[in-house]
Amino acid sequence: MSHGLIAPHGGTLVNRIADSAKAEALKQEAASLRRIDLSAKQSCDVEMIGIGAFSPLTGFMGQADFNSVITSMKLTSGDIWPIPITLAVDAADAPAVGERVALYAPNGVLQAVMTIEETYPHDRAKEATIFFNKPEDDDGQHPGAEAVKKEGDTCLAGPIEVVTVCVDPTGPEAFLEDRLTPAQTRAEFERRGWKTVGAFQTRNPIHRAHEYLCKCTQEICDGLLIHPLVGETKPGDIPADVRMDCYRILIEKYFVPERTLLSVMPAAMRYAGPREAILHALVRKNYGVTHFIVGRDHAGVGNYYGTYDAQNIFDTLDRKNLGIEPLKFEHSAWCKACEGMTSGKTCPHGADQKIFLSGTKVREMLAAGQRPPMEFSRPEVADRLIKWASK
Ligand code: ADX
Repeated sequence: MSHGLIAPHGGTLVNRIADSAKAEALKQEAASLRRIDLSAKQSCDVEMIGIGAFSPLTGFMGQADFNSVITSMKLTSGDIWPIPITLAVDAADAPAVGERVALYAPNGVLQAVMTIEETYPHDRAKEATIFFNKPEDDDGQHPGAEAVKKEGDTCLAGPIEVVTVCVDPTGPEAFLEDRLTPAQTRAEFERRGWKTVGAFQTRNPIHRAHEYLCKCTQEICDGLLIHPLVGETKPGDIPADVRMDCYRILIEKYFVPERTLLSVMPAAMRYAGPREAILHALVRKNYGVTHFIVGRDHAGVGNYYGTYDAQNIFDTLDRKNLGIEPLKFEHSAWCKACEGMTSGKTCPHGADQKIFLSGTKVREMLAAGQRPPMEFSRPEVADRLIKWASK
């Protein structure tokens, strides 16, 4: 790896993918090992660990890291880490320490073999607190917190060896050609001569506000990585294959190819707002990115977080250990008076001049076969969404 690129989190880019000879041996070994069936989220985590996107993690977390991450947003090594990465099962299925187990993806494919170094009670109530600013905010509806509460009561910790990298747990489209690992994006940035790279995380189609963030970033960085999350998302979010079509259509027509790279991030969405913004930034550092876009209510859901909580949390972190630079964008929208994309930082006009549509309103329009205004969404993107919504 070049010393020109940003260092991965913890200093070393992890690679837990077995080479083909080793993978063959692991497959044979797995036949006689205890079988653990992964959830979609766990399967995404296996892929993220395996490819080094979760560096410095080499496997699922032990209890000391679990507690440290929840209480102080750090691993026991001292490195910043905001969200526990756990493999929880029911006590009845729990293996013994020292045992090796076979991890199967939701589609039945052998994904990895894991060596159990530790088992410990899964403090689900404690883990659920990471989703809220204060305990009273837990109304039993938060998708990330509710998912944790339903997980098993015993956590398994230890390193993994990945047999099958992409098992595409969530849908028919694997986007293999756009599924670059951190080592591959780093190589591509070097090939293109990009010294500074901004990354855009998204779980939505790219509308004009998103495009504005991306293009502002292109003004200050050598290149832009459009890096949609394609792992597990909640019901109601737009499927990854439809979004991928939208990204390709938009990039082809409205972006400079030499300065834009599209690749997917196979992580599961947790909807943890500020803490997830930090995770998203650290992961992009592992992919070789130097600047990370954080806009309004990043990784938020409902009204659990303040509009800029996910930006402000970066001010509390050790910037040297964080390594990657957050690019903070205020709420952006088309302004009729300015006749262009604006944000609170650039435009003095009021809300009455802004073209803003709620997600619900956009859904209604698309389902009725209507394009949202071109100031909100590019017509080519709208047409692809109409095709999906009217199915
Ligand atoms: S997220 O879960 O990935 O954050 P989304 O795809 O909607 O959801 O947002 C992607 C990024 O764009 C996030 O950094 C988010 O804060 C930012 N963003 C979305 N809409 C706007 C907007 N209108 N103004 C400013 N930032 C925005």
